[in-house]
Amino acid sequence: MKKRITSNLVCAVLGMLTLTDACLAATNAVDTAMVAASFISYAEHPTLFDSREIDAKVATLLKQMTLKEKLGQLTQFSNGDATGPDNVKIDQSELATRGRLGSMLNLSGAKACNELQRQAVEKSRLKIPILFGLDVIHGHHTVYPIPLGLSAAWDTDLAERCARMAAVEATADGIRWTFSPMVDIARDARWGRIAEGSGEDPYLGSLMAAAWVRGYQGEDLSDSASMLACAKHYVAYGGAEGGREYNTVDISERTLREVYLPPFKAAVDAGAGTIMSAFNTLQGVPASANRHTLTEILRTEWGFRGFVVSDWDSIGELVQHGVALDGSEAALKALTAGVDMDMQSNLYDTKLPELVQSGRLEMEVIDQSVARVLRVKFALGLFERPYTDERSSASRMLTPEHVELARQAAEESFVLLKNDPVNGKRILPLAVDKTVALIGPLADSQAGMFGAWVMKGDSKDAVTVRQSLARRLKDRLIYARGVDTRDESEAGFGAALVAANQADIVLMALGEAPDMSGEAESRAKLDLPGKQLKLLQAVVATGKPVVLILFNGRPLALPWEAEHVPAILEAWFPGVQAGPALARTLFGEVNPAGRLTATFPRSVGQMPLYYNSFNTGRPAPGKNRYVTGYIDERNTPLFPFGWGLSYTKFDYSPTRITTRKISAAELNQGGSISVEATVTNSGPRAGTEVVQLYICQRGTMRSLWSEPVSAVTSRTWL
Ligand code: NOJ
Repeated sequence: MKKRITSNLVCAVLGMLTLTDACLAATNAVDTAMVAASFISYAEHPTLFDSREIDAKVATLLKQMTLKEKLGQLTQFSNGDATGPDNVKIDQSELATRGRLGSMLNLSGAKACNELQRQAVEKSRLKIPILFGLDVIHGHHTVYPIPLGLSAAWDTDLAERCARMAAVEATADGIRWTFSPMVDIARDARWGRIAEGSGEDPYLGSLMAAAWVRGYQGEDLSDSASMLACAKHYVAYGGAEGGREYNTVDISERTLREVYLPPFKAAVDAGAGTIMSAFNTLQGVPASANRHTLTEILRTEWGFRGFVVSDWDSIGELVQHGVALDGSEAALKALTAGVDMDMQSNLYDTKLPELVQSGRLEMEVIDQSVARVLRVKFALGLFERPYTDERSSASRMLTPEHVELARQAAEESFVLLKNDPVNGKRILPLAVDKTVALIGPLADSQAGMFGAWVMKGDSKDAVTVRQSLARRLKDRLIYARGVDTRDESEAGFGAALVAANQADIVLMALGEAPDMSGEAESRAKLDLPGKQLKLLQAVVATGKPVVLILFNGRPLALPWEAEHVPAILEAWFPGVQAGPALARTLFGEVNPAGRLTATFPRSVGQMPLYYNSFNTGRPAPGKNRYVTGYIDERNTPLFPFGWGLSYTKFDYSPTRITTRKISAAELNQGGSISVEATVTNSGPRAGTEVVQLYICQRGTMRSLWSEPVSAVTSRTWL
């Protein structure tokens, strides 16, 4: 089947050439559609926090508040559960009754939230409701793929629907605020939190950021099923030196503007109500005390009207950073830089009063932050409807529609990295009549299917590959665990090799343990941990055709695997429907269409490695040895950004620019060009193709924030 893809390009805010989902919809409907719709869907600016009525209510309330009550609104404590070090112990109920608890994190469940809410709303003097927040990162009870996996679908509509599903479930549990999306661009796979974001590309990352925000917050933030989004970690946290968690970030203003800020801008433009300030320093200034980013850019340039919450104790950590001598100075620096709410360091509540009394801090600064927090609470409808319906709560979790969506999301996230023929025939999709050996620590691990940041999901709800394949293959499935993800023991090798020798085909389910990516999970190595590679090598040596199914939260460096294993399917951490989604994909009922959103290196030493790097003055390959590169490794990645195969074959015609020639200046002012290509599915089965167009502005270094290189994409079904 042929489809003509017409991409309409415009020079948008950052000088990027972009293509929207609107294009996609139109190309699906009409073969030769010329699309002139709005290009950056996230550029529409919802006026969520711009209501005069809300401003008037806030002003009235503010006038009645004591300093302690004001600081209460700027204070957030964690329930007993800790998602960071040093959990401060407080009497929640007592603080709520005294109107001194603006927000709680890590408390969930309709009943538990309602109980505490009652103290605030029925017993406190001003009856200001508490805002309950939780890290709802990739699903609540219905866990879907980790964000890095979800981004590999290049499907903003899917991301929006997943976020909506998470909102529906979490709000039923009393949670009206999620600390998501993580929109940090990550160019270094050693950084464990690459798992939580949408990869390395600012353009795709921006579209995804907006989609997540739209999904969480819905059309109407005051709807009880809408959940406030929090774009984090502001900003450039992903640029940690050496990929080492919490490490220093020292990048230019240009890189900040072109690479790290765009997804935050997109989230703000999509109406994100909150932003979380990060742990890292940026050009020597900690992100949680950085007036340039928190006020000059976020508020003055972008007009952000929501509030900023610190990351866990990131205000207290200003002392460790060395920019504050004590807690009092830390609180002062964070607040005046633009951090409105203090997560867990308990410094605003305890230190700001003396600063006001001594005249070092104006009450107006506090009032401004309190107003921002209250405005969001009003916008959420919390004053009118502070409670969660306890009766309907359970019925909103893991509904058949949610489980179905989780399966679809998992299927769309899979990336077929390699599928070479063995004896003239590709192994994937699997033939239905074969005996299959399934080997590996992740073949039958329910907990292993979730990945980082699952607060409420129960691994018992996850379906493993073994469970799904056993249903189909019955006694034609032979299973052996072989090894554990990180263990050094080879005791299971024997049974694994027996299984491999009995089978026609071997599926190896290998990768990282779920707690090897996410916060504080940086790695200096990017290989398969433990004895997994050794087991794989032994199985490949049997001569049986092998498919490697990878479960991991980051790009891995797998040079041996890429050379010697004929088929490799990247599955990330797929969530509750891992097994069904993988079984359908392996047997070809679903044709994989995911594309990498983060570069896979050949060696760790190549890190950071990303597609939109500058050329250098001596780009490789060159005519002599004086070119950018290494003496012991290639420059090229193992699998590049945008990579992904299919069970079918797509042919591309040459691209044609179909509009008149326009100058760069016209383009910068919102002009557009259309590029057209015909994409033909010339293979044996239906498939989905992500059409990617890479553009590069040559011959100019003109504007400081212009995009040197960017990717333009469209997803289409052929
Ligand atoms: C620290 C993490 O950096 C952040 O992402 C998370 O939202 C908070 N802890 C709260 O759990």
